[in-house]
Amino acid sequence: MVTKTRAGEIVIETNAKELMKPVKRSCIKLNSIYNENCLDTMAKMSDNFIDMTVTSPPYDDMRKYGGNTFNEFELIAQELYRVTKKGGVVVWVTADQTIKGDETGTSFKQALYFKQIGFDLFDTMIYLKPPRGAVGNNKTYWQTFEYMFVFSKGTPKTINLIKDRENKEAREGDSGTKRLYDGTLLKRNRTGYSKYGRRTNAWEYLIGSGHSASDKIAYKHPAIFPEKLAQDHIISWSKEGDIVYDPFMGSGTTAKMAILNKRKYIGSELSCEYCEIAQKRIECDDEMH
Ligand SMILES: C[S@@+](CC[C@H](N)C(=O)[O-])C[C@H]1O[C@@H](n2cnc3c(N)ncnc32)[C@H](O)[C@@H]1O
Repeated sequence: MVTKTRAGEIVIETNAKELMKPVKRSCIKLNSIYNENCLDTMAKMSDNFIDMTVTSPPYDDMRKYGGNTFNEFELIAQELYRVTKKGGVVVWVTADQTIKGDETGTSFKQALYFKQIGFDLFDTMIYLKPPRGAVGNNKTYWQTFEYMFVFSKGTPKTINLIKDRENKEAREGDSGTKRLYDGTLLKRNRTGYSKYGRRTNAWEYLIGSGHSASDKIAYKHPAIFPEKLAQDHIISWSKEGDIVYDPFMGSGTTAKMAILNKRKYIGSELSCEYCEIAQKRIECDDEMH
């Protein structure tokens, strides 16, 4: 009930019984892409259901995907928090629009909102790509990256850091002695460095035809992220058999990489046309196995 106090304040009274009623959630099918708003898909999921999410939402007003705009960010973030398992991770790949020399800062606002509702900002990572076209502001340095915010619901339950950065000085560990000032010998062990160490948190990918996706159908979507990007996050923050969700599935990159890496997937996509592309990519992929 909504009432007004004498001071003119609006008070919203909620019915406690109503709030305590368990919300009925119908069953959600694994390994499916839902042609609907992601809020409707998440409404079907029970709490603590998803192991990890990899996604790239529409950025500001930069593109109209079949006329769809993105104005439900806060509700979507709250639902992502509810459906993510404890220790689960959400990878949110995004960038900002520049309007008259001023970046919107939407990416930061969204990151702070995720923190406000309970996620940890586990890492702010960078997706580096070769600069292309008129991106950003031509009076600034050439824009060449997007953010990959890694949010976690508590400490991530799976962390498999990719170790493919070559160490400049690989060496075996050894032991030796060092003579001290008073003439005595001190035994000491030198730790070794393996040939490869963990990566930095800026990941670089070639993009565009022949690079972003290994199939041709994907390019019918105007804003795919690289298959390798999705795969690298999936293997970093989930294990085989885990459920990987993409609320903005687009051409189905996340689903395809989940299948190839033996994870289960769920996707949501508003556009029927993009759902068909995603389905075709997954079917082609099924034929490869
Ligand atoms: C940046 S694209 C994602 C591209 C995807 N990562 C790929 O590799 O193909 C964002 C997608 O979100 C879809 N979308 C926008 N709002 C949505 C919503 N509320 N629920 C589901 N999909 C939505 C758009 O139609 C668009 O295809």
